[in-house]
Amino acid sequence: MDYFAYKNKKLYCEDVNLQEIVEECGTPTYVYSKKTLERHVDVYKNAFKSHKNLICFSVKSLSNISILELINKKGCGFDVVSGGELKRALHAGADPKKIIFSGVGKSHDEILMGIKYEILSFNIESESEIKRIEEIASSENKVANVAIRFNPEVDSGGHEYIKTGRKGDKFGISSEESVLKIAKYIYKSNHLKLVGLACHIGSQILDLQSYKLTAKNIKDLSFKIKDLGNELDFLDLGGGLGIPYEQDDTPSPQDLISIIEEELKDMEERIILEPGRSISGNAGILLTKVEYIKDNFLIVDAAMNDLLRPALYKAKHDVWSLKEDDSNSKAWIIAGPVCESSDIIAKDIHTNAGEGDTLAIKTAGAYGFVMSSNYNSRMRSAEVLVDGKEFNIVRTRETFEDLIKNEIDLND
Ligand code: LLP
Repeated sequence: MDYFAYKNKKLYCEDVNLQEIVEECGTPTYVYSKKTLERHVDVYKNAFKSHKNLICFSVKSLSNISILELINKKGCGFDVVSGGELKRALHAGADPKKIIFSGVGKSHDEILMGIKYEILSFNIESESEIKRIEEIASSENKVANVAIRFNPEVDSGGHEYIKTGRKGDKFGISSEESVLKIAKYIYKSNHLKLVGLACHIGSQILDLQSYKLTAKNIKDLSFKIKDLGNELDFLDLGGGLGIPYEQDDTPSPQDLISIIEEELKDMEERIILEPGRSISGNAGILLTKVEYIKDNFLIVDAAMNDLLRPALYKAKHDVWSLKEDDSNSKAWIIAGPVCESSDIIAKDIHTNAGEGDTLAIKTAGAYGFVMSSNYNSRMRSAEVLVDGKEFNIVRTRETFEDLIKNEIDLND
């Protein structure tokens, strides 16, 4: 559920008429709803009936600092995958004891930063990585907390590019033998502490049976690991819950958590989840103006550099006009100005919008702005956060100076 809706035929975000944002900030502009973000966090937190838990918001899905601050205030932790994301989370006031660091390619400096801040866990993905973390912890005379990320061999649906939990995928550790060998290694080390077991099976998952199977696999493996040494602090089932992009009937966080709690009912460990899209996805839209009408195309001022998902994954986003459309409206292809044939934002969109009107590309909060680029030397868009009747710019539109600021002109 989100707080984007028509009132008197005008599209609102909470109590703000989106046309006001267009007039003040221009387009393309990302707009996020604070109430929607907070509601989604509450739904996750309130869904747990019996287990101790921690919701670690996946920073990669939406990483604006003002948004991380409000998620931090709701008591969430964070799932980060780079030094930049770790710094963002800390900048937003996160408690390092609630930060999970995932990713297959953590660099020396990223590991050092995590060790210095004593984060909750490095979710490790290879034997080489565990040795590197141990070496750095030893040189700092510290003990690093680690969890082993394994592949539960679950094929969870979704686009090929966002599946992650199968044997042979680049993420996680596929062989059980390897997981147990790493656990033994950690137990013997003076600079490593095994705190958890983790997995993440993919993204935009609509079939909850995948999670049931994953929970069972993580439970079975945790017994084998505990037989070798200490208790664990947590079992981390990652993120991945799907959301409705086109009025799909999608499972809710409550459905997900009740399946997980049922499967893990006798387990003492905390349950950690790392949701991204299911918190941020439908909390954001991208406003874009129709520049030209040509044949059956509406050429708009947002492009694949602003929202890459349709070009990269053939992802479908619904598009609404700021003025409510009648049912007889014609079907259009919404295309961006970038010089690539794949710069198509959506197809078969029924709208009466004409040149100069503004459209809202829906469900763009997750993997929207964060995946934007300067391709075609386009300035990245502004970001706005709505809070009730008010709205604030939380990132200004880039300028030409921003675009070239790291370039060195050899003629100067
Ligand atoms: N945890 C880990 C270790 C992850 O790799 C991811 C996402 C998440 C949590 C959060 O997953 P979510 O709840 O958001 O599905 N750019 C793609 C999605 C890539 C997801 C990468 N990993 C898209 O636009 O669909």
